[in-house]
Amino acid sequence: MLSSLRLERGTGNALHDQLTGQLRDLILSGDIPPGTRLPASRKAARELEVSRNVVVLAYEQLRMEGYLEARVGSGTRVQPRLPGHLLSPRTYGPENEKHPTSDPLRFSGPGTRLARARPIPLRHGRGPGPFLPGVAAPEHFPQRIWSRVASRLWRTRSRELVGYGDAQGDPVLRNAIADHVRRFRAVRCRADQVMITSGSQQGLDLVARMMIDPGDPVLVEDPGYRGARVAFEAAGARLHPVPVDAEGGRFGEDEAPRGARLVYTAPSHQYPMGVTLTLSRRLRLLEWARETGAWVVEDDYDSEFRYGSRPLPALQGLDREGGVIYLGTMSKVLAPGLRLGFLVLPESLVEPFRWARTVTDTHSPSILQATLGEFIREGHLERHIARMRGIYAEGREALRAALEGQLDDEVEIVSDEAGLHLTVLLPAGVDDRAVSRLAAEKGVEAPALSDYAIRELPRGGLVLGFGAAPVEEIPDAVGRLAGAIRRVRR
Ligand SMILES: Cc1ncc(COP(=O)(O)O)c(C=O)c1O
Repeated sequence: MLSSLRLERGTGNALHDQLTGQLRDLILSGDIPPGTRLPASRKAARELEVSRNVVVLAYEQLRMEGYLEARVGSGTRVQPRLPGHLLSPRTYGPENEKHPTSDPLRFSGPGTRLARARPIPLRHGRGPGPFLPGVAAPEHFPQRIWSRVASRLWRTRSRELVGYGDAQGDPVLRNAIADHVRRFRAVRCRADQVMITSGSQQGLDLVARMMIDPGDPVLVEDPGYRGARVAFEAAGARLHPVPVDAEGGRFGEDEAPRGARLVYTAPSHQYPMGVTLTLSRRLRLLEWARETGAWVVEDDYDSEFRYGSRPLPALQGLDREGGVIYLGTMSKVLAPGLRLGFLVLPESLVEPFRWARTVTDTHSPSILQATLGEFIREGHLERHIARMRGIYAEGREALRAALEGQLDDEVEIVSDEAGLHLTVLLPAGVDDRAVSRLAAEKGVEAPALSDYAIRELPRGGLVLGFGAAPVEEIPDAVGRLAGAIRRVRR
């Protein structure tokens, strides 16, 4: 019975744990049937060439777990009342998933929609290649200062940081964020309207879950940010695409569906077209939202990076009715892996969102929030943004120059005033998805504009991020991109 057991020394895995695990597997697989008497510990130890204590400990553990029973005078045996017909060979793999839950696989309504959601795939681990859009330069993350602030907090506030925190977020951080957006974005808010989220994606998901019933019309810019689109779709929204032109989303210009619950916009720097929503359109949008009773969700994801002109203040600051939900994120100004973003909520939404947050994930990790709070309070974020603005401006300049030098006849730059990407249009009739696929084969990531669109676009294009592309690699990467475009044109 013991001949199939293999105990190995020096693996870092204690012998009695190995023996426990292997005996448990043999019982579960039915190889040692219920009622079987096990050899006495002394005899088993001799056979296995281990000390008796190893066997005693393993038997005792399995007895506590209910696999074995020990009777004075009659030794140790496998629990006879184990339901033998439920014991089965324990090999793992999809072919063994025979539980009725997976045949057929059935989800709830929201679960079905979530499982179908297809945002642009995230990149894990690997550093981003040129021109993956929307990512901050990982090599410039202010790691030294960040870890200094974090270590200090672990030394001075660890008791508080290891306990549960406020569902709305660390108060120091909320104050720092409120101060930041008031000063730099003209957002009108108090710290108690700020809720710290796990990136803006969680903010979008919360808004979608709180505001949208299946079938509700939701207006989104088209082309637009897929992270927002999939969050609304997962809540069952009926998306109504709003075309984008040089003045931003054409809100209030075309017929909007009746009963719209919500409108999503990135007014400072439309994603991915890069245009800014004009003041008159902003005012019209707020007016329309007030008349129809729709919430406006303002995604202000990267407006800190503006080259040349000053950014228009946030739409939220123009609103007098409490109808705008403002979303911000640290993903562009600092790093996406921190998963730190925030909502600025109208007063009426603070309490309900706070409860919803308690149910979903309670709150974002306290140490990260506290570190960011101090980081902002001590002025590091402001300095980091100023430094990165210079670095990104160089990247943008290099990309623009390379595009003009190598692809002047082929692409048209739509807008390059802000942010971490440039969007270019391809000549009419050129299949942007084919270009994107070919470029990817050459190690250049240039998502097709069509992949951000709901309705077919008059012209395809490419979204080119320069945030994480080292400046010296840009001309060569544009060369490879040019090769892909020319091959598709031919
Ligand atoms: C329009 C837009 N909003 C928000 C984000 C940031 O998302 P998160 O804060 O969830 O990382 C991005 C990042 O790609 C974006 O492009």
